[in-house]
Parts: sequence; C-alpha cells; structure tokens
Amino acid sequence: MSKKTRPTLFDPPIERRASDSTKWSRFSNKEHDVIGAWIADMDLPTSNNIINAIKGRLDERVFGYSEPPDEFFDVVIQRLEEKYGWKTKAEWFVPQPGVVPSLFFASNCVGDTGDAVMAARPNYRYFLETAEHTGRVFQPIDCHVNQHRWEMDFDQMRQTISPKTKTFLLCNPHNPVGRILDQQELETIADLCLRNGTMICADEIHADLVLDRDKQHIPIASLHPEIEKKSITLISASKAFNLPAIGGLSLAIIPDPALRSAFQHKAYGVATHPGALAYAATLTAFKDCDNWLLQTISYLRDNRDYLEAQISGIEGLNMNHVEATFLAWIDVSNSGLANPVSTFLDHGVALSDGAEMGRADHVRLNFACHRSTLEEIVRRLKASLA
Ligand SMILES: Cc1ncc(COP(=O)(O)O)c(C=O)c1O
Repeated sequence: MSKKTRPTLFDPPIERRASDSTKWSRFSNKEHDVIGAWIADMDLPTSNNIINAIKGRLDERVFGYSEPPDEFFDVVIQRLEEKYGWKTKAEWFVPQPGVVPSLFFASNCVGDTGDAVMAARPNYRYFLETAEHTGRVFQPIDCHVNQHRWEMDFDQMRQTISPKTKTFLLCNPHNPVGRILDQQELETIADLCLRNGTMICADEIHADLVLDRDKQHIPIASLHPEIEKKSITLISASKAFNLPAIGGLSLAIIPDPALRSAFQHKAYGVATHPGALAYAATLTAFKDCDNWLLQTISYLRDNRDYLEAQISGIEGLNMNHVEATFLAWIDVSNSGLANPVSTFLDHGVALSDGAEMGRADHVRLNFACHRSTLEEIVRRLKASLA
C-alpha cells in the first residue's frame, strides 16, 4: 500500500542528489540516475528539536574549544537506566568522535601483537578489519540461517575461542543481518568470553532502532557486574537520529578503570575532540526526541514490512526478517547474476556489496528512505532480474 494517502513526518521526500550526500552522489551523475541505498544513513530529516538545538548553538557565534554541556552525562545515565535498567556512572564515559575508531582502540588496548580478535561474520566491514590493522589475528565466527533467522555459530565459537582471544567485537543489533540478540545468545557470548578472559567490545550504535514490537535491546554489559567489568560499550545518536554529517560524537562506556585507561592510552593524540554542534545535537536526541524516534521507527517498520513482502515475490532474491536496524541483508545466490551489485547499479540502484562484509553471495539494502524511493528501488530490482 502506498504511503501517499497518509502524510507522515517525512513527507514530502527530500531531494538529496544536490546535497553532497555520499550515498546519493557516489554513483549518480548526469548521464545515469542512481538511487543510493548503500551506506548506512537515512534520507529522513532529523527531529526539529535537534535542528533548533544546533541553531541555538550556532547563534552563540563563537566556536572555540568546548566541553560537554553540564547536563550531558546525567541525561545519558538516566536514559540508559530508563531504557535498559543499566546503572552507569559519569566517570565510565569516554567521549570519542566516531564509533569506528573505538573498534580499533578496543582491538589493541588489551593483549599483545599476535593475540586474537574475534567477531561474527558477516559483519560491518571494520569488524573484519581491525585485527589486521592492529597486529592481531582475526578469528571469525560464522553466522548461519536457522529457521529463517540468522544465528552465530556458537559451536564454532566454543571451538575457536581461547585465552589468546583478547577481544570479542560484538555488533548488536547486528549490521548487516538485522538481528537483535536475545538474552540467551548474549549469556552464551558472555559466558564463553568470561571463561577465556576475553574482553567484549559491544558496538550498540543501532540500539535505538529496534523495529519488532516484541523485542528489547539488552546492553551485554548490563547482564551482570562480572561482564560489565570486562566490557566496552559503544553508543551514539548518529544512526537513529541521522547525524553523521553533524560531526562525530560517540561514547565508549568503560566501567573498569584499568581497561578505561588502556583504551584512553590508545586513543591519545589520535582521536579528535567531539565538537559543540555534535554535543548539542546528541543531548537533544537523548533528551527531547522520544516522540520523533517513535514515528521514525514506525516509518522504518512499515518500509521493512513492504520490502520483505516485495522481496519474497522476486524470484532469485531472498531475505530474512529484519528485527532491528534499517538494513536488509539480501541473498542473491539464486539470482543467476554473475555480478549482482554491478547489475543493480546498471539498473539504477546502488547497494552495498556483501563481499565487504564477509559474504559475497549477499547484498545490503538500506531502506531508510522515503516510501516512494523504496517503491522505485523495488521496481528497479525487478527490472534487473527480468
Ligand atoms: C555497526 C556500526 N558501527 C559503526 C558505524 C559507524 O559509526 P561512526 O560513523 O560513528 O564511526 C556504523 C555505520 O554504518 C555501523 O553500522
């Protein structure tokens, strides 16, 4: 059903082709119109409250070095407690620019050269790359589909993990498979990591984007104090509130003082300070945007339902249910296409190549766009396979 009859917060669509958008400008040009559906940002405008907070900070007109706003950490602490029952303390928070640099700091702030970093595969590309770039050995744990649901291979994890595995990089909710791990899965990971002395670095950047009404995000660090002490949790308002272009601001939450100082040591002189506009935007996102977020999740959920229904009717494509995130992980192994990404591109849709995420037989489609755009994407996918 078309969204045209029901105006939403996101009508009319915003034209991003003229805005230096990475997603839209990388593949599109005058000769070839290409819809960007790859990199993970949204075409949807952010909350007006955030825009007003940024304007308010701009009106101050002076942009010297700045500190986090006074109430910043209290707001984050209160939010984590209200949403997840997780009690955190201000001194645990290490502000960082993006989440990605923290994945690298977490990979080599414990252990030595030659130790191992473990992560599920497929995964957001940096999870697969930090080991190589930090002098570590990568231990991938494969994910398989079990009864239409992506699951990590815990038998493989049991066989592979050892005291040499110093860091487990957890992506939850999981990009690209769209799963939100349940308590049992998290307990299994926590148990195996604790037994081997493995620190868990949990990237929870998609935590606010749970689409299934009956699911709840659980920060792995909140399971129990023992795992909290062996953890680094990475959060940011950047995905759910669509703020990457405002300038990075993420928080590494590191309860253990020794681990925190090891992490800070790696970040020293490398990571820049988050800027004042990012603080203004993030503070408002975490404090004053609950209603906007509910409407956004509802819009994304409708898009997901539409896309799942459409893909199930396209011969040669298959996807499993997306519980969280705005990313669809589509199996193209039966498409008959020699190079699906370039065929889709030729037909005017830019998708992410699954090979970058560890599975060349998949592509990733970002459905955080206006419904009319998603409908056009589906038309073009169908044309590619006709
Ligand atoms: C799981 C995950 N972590 C991190 C990032 C990027 O975070 P940042 O832009 O803060 O470095 C993304 C972006 O797609 C992501 O999906």
